[in-house]
Amino acid sequence: MRIVTTITDLRGQIKQWQQTGESIALVPTMGNLHEGHLQLVRTARKTADRVVVSIFVNPTQFGEGEDFAAYPRTEREDREKLHENAVDLLFLPAVQEIYPPGCNTFITVNGISDLHCGASRLGHFSGVATIVCKLFYMVLPDFALFGEKDWQQLAVIRCMVRDLNIPVAIVAVPTVREADGLAMSSRNAYLTPAQRRRAPKLYQSLLDAREMLVSGAMDFSVIEQQQVQFLAEAGFQPDYFSICCADNLLPAARFDRDLVILVAAKLGKARLIDNVQVKKSPGD
Ligand code: PAF
Repeated sequence: MRIVTTITDLRGQIKQWQQTGESIALVPTMGNLHEGHLQLVRTARKTADRVVVSIFVNPTQFGEGEDFAAYPRTEREDREKLHENAVDLLFLPAVQEIYPPGCNTFITVNGISDLHCGASRLGHFSGVATIVCKLFYMVLPDFALFGEKDWQQLAVIRCMVRDLNIPVAIVAVPTVREADGLAMSSRNAYLTPAQRRRAPKLYQSLLDAREMLVSGAMDFSVIEQQQVQFLAEAGFQPDYFSICCADNLLPAARFDRDLVILVAAKLGKARLIDNVQVKKSPGD
């Protein structure tokens, strides 16, 4: 596995692969790699000839008072995991390489970025869209892989790619869960042992809501309120629990069929997010 830290070296290697007609898959990450990330890498391996992984803790997607400084950085372990998973190139830039002084251009995907997580993390999705767009122009990948755990992030990126006509195929990879159902996330490390035992209730709230929907419950706001209360009683500080249309993330209406249930809640220091999809058949 080759490791590069500059855009010049990155582009040099990419150019060589493009000249020999090899396809490229990009897996953007912020490091602290777990099974969820490695699943993205394995899918990338099956999808393209060359796999590029970036590790960059992107300051522009963290708001004031968020965990940018505390975000776990585990470079040595990450390198080993990527090496074991046959990654071709690791891009490991410094902040100044990506945002040199005077860098003043940001991408904003209006509308969808303001909902759900965007309402409580102002500017977060602009930071995400900006770094992902920059990486796309640096790597020029044929494919880019993202986890479904960050459903809203995926929707924002799809929207950006469509609106800016970026020639990359976005590949969504299902959420990887711990044995008790908790979605894998770097932020799970912030949980105390007692909080960790309670954390799977977040997924439980989604499964219960999905069960109600597939059994025909139609009053979405009642389900949302019930699950918020369930989480509050379980010791979470719920941010939102929303039954939405899977593509534009607007509140679902009675006859919508392709739904996603999104949840975000704080548990101690960790802000956890998760989601489940619900496909309703025309008879439901
Ligand atoms: O999902 C993440 O880890 C980050 O938001 C991403 C896509 C790597 C952009 O910094």
